[in-house]
Amino acid sequence: MKKRTENKTAALKHNNFVRGRFKDDISEITANFTASLDIDKKLADFDIDGSIAHLCAIEKAGIVNEKEKKDIEKALLRIKEEIKSGELILNKKYEDIHMNIEKRLIELLPSSGPKLHTGRSRNDQVSVDFRLYVKNEIKKIAGVLLSLRAELVSAAVLNVETVMPGYTHFQHAQPVSLAHHLSAYYEMFTRDFKKLTSAYETTDVLTLGSGALAGVDFDIDRSLEAEILGFGKVSRNSMDGVSDRDFAIEFNFALSMIALHLSRFCEELIIWNSFEFGFIKLKDEFTTGSSIMPQKKNPDVLELIRGKTGGIISNLISLFIMMKSLPLAYNRDMQEDKKPVMESASTVYDSLSIFKEIIKTVEFNKDVMSRGLKNDTVYATDMATYFVKKGLPFRKSHEAVGRIVNYAEIKGKKLSELSLKEYKNIIDIADKDIFNIFNPETSVNSKKTIGGTAFKQIKKTLKDYEKEIRNDKQFLSSLK
Ligand code: ARG
Repeated sequence: MKKRTENKTAALKHNNFVRGRFKDDISEITANFTASLDIDKKLADFDIDGSIAHLCAIEKAGIVNEKEKKDIEKALLRIKEEIKSGELILNKKYEDIHMNIEKRLIELLPSSGPKLHTGRSRNDQVSVDFRLYVKNEIKKIAGVLLSLRAELVSAAVLNVETVMPGYTHFQHAQPVSLAHHLSAYYEMFTRDFKKLTSAYETTDVLTLGSGALAGVDFDIDRSLEAEILGFGKVSRNSMDGVSDRDFAIEFNFALSMIALHLSRFCEELIIWNSFEFGFIKLKDEFTTGSSIMPQKKNPDVLELIRGKTGGIISNLISLFIMMKSLPLAYNRDMQEDKKPVMESASTVYDSLSIFKEIIKTVEFNKDVMSRGLKNDTVYATDMATYFVKKGLPFRKSHEAVGRIVNYAEIKGKKLSELSLKEYKNIIDIADKDIFNIFNPETSVNSKKTIGGTAFKQIKKTLKDYEKEIRNDKQFLSSLK
């Protein structure tokens, strides 16, 4: 036992190559506590890309010669492969992925390897790696979000003329087209797409070259680095450069909004999938059984997406709280930024990927949906409009229809079952054409203002959506 501890300490002393100023070695417990390797190993590829860009800049600045540059680049690419194949055993005692890679580089190239970190600090290194990671995640997530939007439009196109009760306060309100309902979610996800691309813009700033906080001493061509790494801008203040995590928060905010919208949609589908509603049928592959009740077919996937939303929103809050009291510039607290971002990014990506398949395969029970309209109080607002068209001011009409609804309720009749005489007794301007209002299509098609549920209006909007999707697809592929 004793021997093992001694060996470990010896290993730490020997391997930790940034401890020149220390008399004593870092203790094992400290090394374990401060390490971020488990999380930031996901940044390996970006770290190597960032190092290669930096390498080009230090070659240009005359810090390494052409041969050294070639050797270092080759070694870095080799390390990339070694990490991918699992050949290189990453070790927590070097704290993070950045130090593990540098350690290996120096092992491979003992004389030129140690030059790579000239004119760079881990603070700007971490920042640029994280930005590269976030940019990449945004592109991936925006891609699957776009596919979901496309699925929604396809489902909507098939269901323009499927009329169902629309709800407010979760009570029957007015008839709407199912396409209109689906399009409401399309709108939410389109706003989310914009949020993601706006977070991309915030992230698209090269911070490498900020050094520890003050900038760097050498003639580092930061524009060259930005060009190599595909950044649109170069940061203008080195202190902000190393301590800014707004991009991570904005990204997580966009993720939280996506999760929130998914969660609402899931909630709705769970309800629609219930026996009482029966509006939809989920494909077997997205449902699970119960360990005791043989008849069950549970909407677990939808429930889990809804359930995971809490964690995603908390991750956003974690980032806010982590940052809120930090003085300039880098503080070690900021090492805690990656976990919430990476966790949320992967959860949202997975949720979107599976949810879009659910939308693609869900069956809408159109008959059941339209049966909901048999409760013809959904036409009460149309009746109010009917009387307005006959000259009655809206408030008076609202009041009269209220009395009609009340009367029908007392009589135990539906609105459409009342006789013209009964209508006339309550309000004499009622005429036999009053019975025309009990028609789903007439009802929805009278909502023909922009954004309304009239079939014609929806069809026009769906065309706009299709065009919007094409444009967004093009825009997405133009991102570096
Ligand atoms: N692993 C650390 C992080 O991810 C690197 C910290 C570098 N800077 C420092 N001053 N210790 O944030």
